[in-house]
Amino acid sequence: MTVTASASLHPFLDGVPKRLLIDGNWVESASGKTFPSINPSTGEEIAQIAEGDSRDIDTAVAAARRAFEGPWGTFTPRDRQNVLLKLADLIEAKAEELRLLDVIDMGTPIGKDNVQGAAIQAADLLRYFAGWATKIHGETVQNSAPGSFFSYTLKEPVGVCGSIIPWNGPFPGTLGKMAPVLATGCTMVLKPAEQACLAPLRIGELLSELDLPPGVVNIVTGFGETAGVALTAHPGVDKVAFTGSSFTGQEIVRAAAGNLKRVSLELGGKSPDIIFADADLDAAVPGAGMGVFRNAGQICCAGTRVYVQRPIYDEFVSRVSEFADSLRVGNSLDPETQIGPIVSQAQLDRVTGYLDIGKEEGARPTAGGARLVEGDLAKGYFVPPTVFADVKDEMRIANEEIFGPVASVLPFDDIDEVARRANLTQFGLGGGVWTRDVGKAHRIAHSIKTGMVWVNAYGQMDPSMPLVGVKMSGWGSELSVHSLDEYLNIKAVWINTAV
Ligand code: NAI
Ligand code: MG
Repeated sequence: MTVTASASLHPFLDGVPKRLLIDGNWVESASGKTFPSINPSTGEEIAQIAEGDSRDIDTAVAAARRAFEGPWGTFTPRDRQNVLLKLADLIEAKAEELRLLDVIDMGTPIGKDNVQGAAIQAADLLRYFAGWATKIHGETVQNSAPGSFFSYTLKEPVGVCGSIIPWNGPFPGTLGKMAPVLATGCTMVLKPAEQACLAPLRIGELLSELDLPPGVVNIVTGFGETAGVALTAHPGVDKVAFTGSSFTGQEIVRAAAGNLKRVSLELGGKSPDIIFADADLDAAVPGAGMGVFRNAGQICCAGTRVYVQRPIYDEFVSRVSEFADSLRVGNSLDPETQIGPIVSQAQLDRVTGYLDIGKEEGARPTAGGARLVEGDLAKGYFVPPTVFADVKDEMRIANEEIFGPVASVLPFDDIDEVARRANLTQFGLGGGVWTRDVGKAHRIAHSIKTGMVWVNAYGQMDPSMPLVGVKMSGWGSELSVHSLDEYLNIKAVWINTAV
């Protein structure tokens, strides 16, 4: 693929509607206001996006309700399966373009692995959920109630969903929220993150090629404090599915209390990655390194607390620092780039703030450590892969989610100690363990209080496996069969067979 160096000239941008998708139509926002979308590699404005607010949320929720109670309800499971399969084909055909929108909108590197990988994964995700559409069922239950009762359960769609996504993967994030909605027969109002709306809007446009009744999928771009709050507090919304920070997750739970809508949350983390002295360091160094640095560290399950057993601590620190220094940081449109920019000026300030905090706390930077300000990179929001050695459990950089390419490396002595220390966090999303000893691997996998654990690997995902957190990392599962229940109500039906 040939791409221009200047994203503002990119032809794909013209194909993205910059309005709101409500009831099957692209409409202006009620406020008439717009806000800029910035390419974080250059700081350039690349588009103006419609600024939806509570009025637009009201109309979108009403449209989603009409669709739910109207034509969409007549779709059989097989019809919904076919919608998802057709969407998968459309997405597969356009995946390169969609991925490119993430490249210029949020800074994911364009490299072959990212682009082609995304094409396959996005279509796979939709086909996986297409399969479930025809396999949703209740059960007959042999009850012991006095009398003579036949009883069974039904699984019914929850209704209108408010789906709120973050900016760190808008293309896959949109489909991750849309797939279970369509599989279960719900309808949705999607609120993309204000930092990266282009791929969600382009996906919205592709929906017009499906035989989807208007209002099944609505997309309202806008800010969290206005459009997001309106959606989560809306009495006409039956469920909120949210991915983002734990702080906003708490706000959403409070807002949802008004009508006690159902809530599923995929939140932040400070995931431990534990490296034993017997680990294969040739695998562990790049594995744990990319476990932190991939997507410039802007991944919910990044393994940012790297615990290394004392005998190999110094060697690991020096090797992972060398690895960090070897990664190519650059414009996300450059095919050689391995680490792109941080999404926005605000996030850049947050990440560089933590670099200062780490140094003040006495941690020792052994790679990276400061924003890149040389040449062209000065215009974008670039932070090089950073390693802090000599980190202590109580330091802020060992406890707070930085959401940048920053690894905190901590020494440990034995398995019981590290199992305890790995759990010294409010979060519980991912966890990794690197060892050649299968017993140790299982002990850590069981003792660690997280939703996901990887052994001699880090960060693998598949539609068939739950993406799930405990503690302040979330409620309920994304992906996998378990995510369906987040979109379904269970109904108990009793039939008196004696009358
Ligand atoms: P955020 O959680 O505030 O934003 C995520 C989404 O929620 C966006 O669509 C936003 O518009 C919306 N939102 C914000 N406030 C809302 C509210 N009160 N009600 C309803 N919707 C609301 O995250 P933000 O501010 O972009 O990033 C701050 C930090 O959050 C990051 O540094 C990172 O630590 C964490 N984060 C974690 C993510 C994850 O995948 N776990 C993703 C994004 C951010
Ligand atoms: Mg942007």
